[in-house]
Amino acid sequence: MIGRLNHVAIAVPDLAAGTAMYAGTLGAKVSEPMALPEHGVSVVFVELPNTKIELLEPLGEDSPIAAFLLKNPAGGIHHLCYEVDDITAARDRLTQAGARVLGDGEPKIGAHGKPVLFLHPKDFAGTLIELEQA
Ligand code: CO
Repeated sequence: MIGRLNHVAIAVPDLAAGTAMYAGTLGAKVSEPMALPEHGVSVVFVELPNTKIELLEPLGEDSPIAAFLLKNPAGGIHHLCYEVDDITAARDRLTQAGARVLGDGEPKIGAHGKPVLFLHPKDFAGTLIELEQA
């Protein structure tokens, strides 16, 4: 059911410093920062030949990554994003299999303007999974 790895997301305490690390030290192409208030994050995308890295910085009062950064003050891998052809069909199949979808279970529009859902890390080897309709 799942397809390509769309991105690996890394939470960072400072997006400008994260951008400098990837664009400067690692020599990668990094997008302009984008604020996503409905997701409580600001993001940049690092373009790699075979996938993307998403750097996430908290935005606003109750950012969903604030608690993660309290536990991981230097930052850390936050989630993996896999592509699916049909996000509603994927959700129905996963919930029937007993997996938990975060939030109200309805897809939201993600950072690429496409529908996304998040799956509970306790159901997937301790890894937060984002599904994005490709
Ligand atoms: Co993501």
